[in-house]
Amino acid sequence: MKKLLVVSLAGLLLLSLCTSVLAADKIKIGFLVKQPDEPWFQDEWKYAQQAADELGFELIKIGATDGEKVLAGIDNLAAQQAQGFVICTPDVKLGPAIVAKAQAAGLKVMSVDDRFVGPDGNPMEEVHHMGISAFNIGKAVGQALVDEAAARGWDLKEVGFLRMSYDQLPTIKERTDGATEVLVGAGLPEANIFDSPMKVLDIEASMNAANITLTKHPDVKLWVVAGGNDSSAIGAVRALEGQKVPLENAIAVGINGTEAVAEFEKPEPTALIGSILLAAKQHGYGTAENMFKWIKDGVEPEKAIWTAGQLITRENYKEVMGLN
Ligand code: GLA
Repeated sequence: MKKLLVVSLAGLLLLSLCTSVLAADKIKIGFLVKQPDEPWFQDEWKYAQQAADELGFELIKIGATDGEKVLAGIDNLAAQQAQGFVICTPDVKLGPAIVAKAQAAGLKVMSVDDRFVGPDGNPMEEVHHMGISAFNIGKAVGQALVDEAAARGWDLKEVGFLRMSYDQLPTIKERTDGATEVLVGAGLPEANIFDSPMKVLDIEASMNAANITLTKHPDVKLWVVAGGNDSSAIGAVRALEGQKVPLENAIAVGINGTEAVAEFEKPEPTALIGSILLAAKQHGYGTAENMFKWIKDGVEPEKAIWTAGQLITRENYKEVMGLN
């Protein structure tokens, strides 16, 4: 009996030793996002968690809304003995500081969505990155606006373009540039572009920026809206509603898809007729998986991966997104 007890105690000890070694061995990966409240980033986290569960690593999610939180987050990861992280930085100019800190802590780093900008103002091409094909996706927004305007029989010479811009972030500027190119190419006069700079990338900032423009141009009756993401378009839609612009006189198209769904689910249509649905799973699951393989097997990810998007509308979003 005594012998049995000793043997089973020894067995238990061995088991607990093994599991603690396993736990210590488990790869830990951070995922830092600039706007944890935005549905896009919640989706990225959700899919990164799926990767963690399926591939067997620990995911550490960090809301990094400003530079201080980013740097503290990296310290925290180092203290937890993580081996790497994926980040959508709150400010692309933090790139060099993030890389320096990651290197000092021996952490691998990859950026997602917003690409780091170096001291020379150019993208930091040495840092592995996954982002959207921003200019092409902006063009798809422009095309959706042009098509809907044509379907309504509008003359683009009489249409005002509420351009919800955020030029300090290159991926957003490329998106609004793409939309602009298509609208102008289809006949919208340059003089009808009403740039509406946003202070931050959220619905409230978009509404404020659009209100300023709309108040300045009460003579314009027909409006098209494009911005860097869904929030940028939806805030402007709220401003148009507030200024009593009739629904049939306004057309807006967003980017992300995530926030647009809530608009499409409203019983009454709004001016947001569509959005370019981005590949949230690729951005969340894909980057986390790339980081995992890099740490575990030394497989370096591709230096830059550019993802595509697809137009969703009130009519087709359920089918396209598999929500049926
Ligand atoms: C930026 C935007 C997000 C989303 C991503 C996609 O980070 O702020 O809303 O569009 O790009 O890469």
